[in-house]
Amino acid sequence: MEKLRSLIKGEIGRDVISLETVDSTNAFAVRLGGKGAAHGTTVIAERQTKGRGRLGRRWESPAGGNIYMSVILRPLMDMRDVTLLTIMAGVACCGALRNSTGLAVEIKWPNDLMVSGRKLGGILTEIRSSAGRVIFAVLGMGINVNTCLEDYPPEVRAIATSVMNETSKEQSVTLLATGILNELDRWYGILMREGRGPVLNEWRRFSSMLGGVVEVIVGEEAFRGVAEDIDDEGRLLLRLSSGELKNISAGDLKILR
Ligand code: BTN
Repeated sequence: MEKLRSLIKGEIGRDVISLETVDSTNAFAVRLGGKGAAHGTTVIAERQTKGRGRLGRRWESPAGGNIYMSVILRPLMDMRDVTLLTIMAGVACCGALRNSTGLAVEIKWPNDLMVSGRKLGGILTEIRSSAGRVIFAVLGMGINVNTCLEDYPPEVRAIATSVMNETSKEQSVTLLATGILNELDRWYGILMREGRGPVLNEWRRFSSMLGGVVEVIVGEEAFRGVAEDIDDEGRLLLRLSSGELKNISAGDLKILR
């Protein structure tokens, strides 16, 4: 962890809490945030016993060299803009992973990090707010780095991958994690100074599904159409066969072709 601290360039990751086992780094960071922890405080664990995924799912979190990391942010931001934080985190993770591994990592809406159609990592944002304003946000990032796919249950194995699985080489978790934290700091600065434009454009550049035919499951409903773009709030703009342009804030997306 000393090495990690020495490689940190900005505010994000300057205070790091490093744990061997935790229920969930997100849950831990939300507890810390509630006690007033500073912007940029980062929680990293070697394994999680109750890793949380999107839409109330579990995030399998075996020990063995993966990234389970959560960052507390304190932006001055309206609740209606919070999706931009997840979009920004996707851009930072995707860029840092491309730089450090050379893999062609892509983003699948809203925030899945994909390589060759399989999931390398995901992002879970949790927010505490008051009167429509963000008090703090926790960005949770789970990246499969050095685990063998055999460490996962069969249903995960079929759709997931890891850096090692793709490159056949072990990667330093510390270097990857610092690369992500430094990119997060850079993109957070850009978002705060220049607004949403640059982040949304970089997201579009990294996106694997724009222009493709997709199916999005939203609760009990399924929508099929062409994924045309994301809007200013980071919602997916889906062109249905009826011609209607539907905006979708949250859901599960499958690329059909
Ligand atoms: C997803 O479902 O795609 C998002 C997964 C996010 C997992 C990470 S691991 C670190 C942090 N702590 C958690 O409990 N979840 C996030």
